[in-house]
Amino acid sequence: MDGSVGEVRGNKLLELLQRADDYVSGEWISEQLGISRTAVWKQIQVLKSRGYTFEAVPRLGYRLTGKPDSLDPARLQALLTTRVFGRKLQVLAETGSTQRQAHDWVREGAPEGAVVIADRQTAGRGRMGRNWHSPPGKGLWFSMILQPRLNVSRVPQLTLVLAAALCRSLRRETGLNIGIKWPNDLLIDGRKFCGILTESIAEDERLQYAVAGVGINVNLEPGDFPADLKGKVTSLRIEAGRQLDRERLFAAFLNEWETMYDLYLRRGFGVIRTLWEAHNATLQRRVTIKTPEGEISGTALAIDEQGGLVLRRGDGSLVTVYAGEMHYATDAPK
Ligand code: BTN
Repeated sequence: MDGSVGEVRGNKLLELLQRADDYVSGEWISEQLGISRTAVWKQIQVLKSRGYTFEAVPRLGYRLTGKPDSLDPARLQALLTTRVFGRKLQVLAETGSTQRQAHDWVREGAPEGAVVIADRQTAGRGRMGRNWHSPPGKGLWFSMILQPRLNVSRVPQLTLVLAAALCRSLRRETGLNIGIKWPNDLLIDGRKFCGILTESIAEDERLQYAVAGVGINVNLEPGDFPADLKGKVTSLRIEAGRQLDRERLFAAFLNEWETMYDLYLRRGFGVIRTLWEAHNATLQRRVTIKTPEGEISGTALAIDEQGGLVLRRGDGSLVTVYAGEMHYATDAPK
């Protein structure tokens, strides 16, 4: 069963305190919000009862020192600088799959930029019909609705734009050495911590809409992974050695994504391709790709105009692959 749905309602006081990231006086808050100082104090008490913690220092004012480790629509909204993405937001305590939720939501009329995020998925979907392990309180499991005016042949590019935006924002937030494995995995030291699933619906070669799903292992610890994944996967927490703020990461990603997506739609794939290449963990490696037509092996040379991967096979011939599951020896020289 789905959890509670929270449409975004801005909590202005929280927004002010989060933005300030320092002490702010009760007087200043009351001026900004146009409410009395008693009303400010009352709102602070309400926030405390919801798990927020504050430091209150005479003459300096209030400082936000902690918040509940849950995904909260108002807090998320306060961190966003986007115009479109995440402005319509469903935050679910639990759902089968945010992909399914998003597809249903589009059919009900949800616009481009609408995002569904769940604290837990009970039937998270991965690529190739796999499950995506999505335990509560530890990850970011979300799906975004995209409705660009594109020919369906350009859908593979969307996944690459998404991977580049994820890589840039998560690198900046964590300082970790994150690389992109074509087409849609993010790795640290050869271990996967993030996957992308782009599902699209087209009519007469025109993309009607796409649902771009992202799963990020944020605060999972080694014991949180099922036995069959051990050694192959990791989380940001394991790699960084510290707990990370899921809301902050999510907002940092959405802010980066909207900028890159706009750039891609205005200027084309070329500029994004350069960014993707700068963060890639794929090119110059010997790889094998499983495709519906069989396995293809070769050295990964480049990303082409469409987002396909160009390989040089053993006999010297070039081949371009647009979708598939790639493997490479992580200890093989680049
Ligand atoms: C992969 O196999 O690498 C893709 C994984 C995608 C998982 C995400 S989690 C949020 C969204 N909802 C799903 O059911 N799947 C995607």
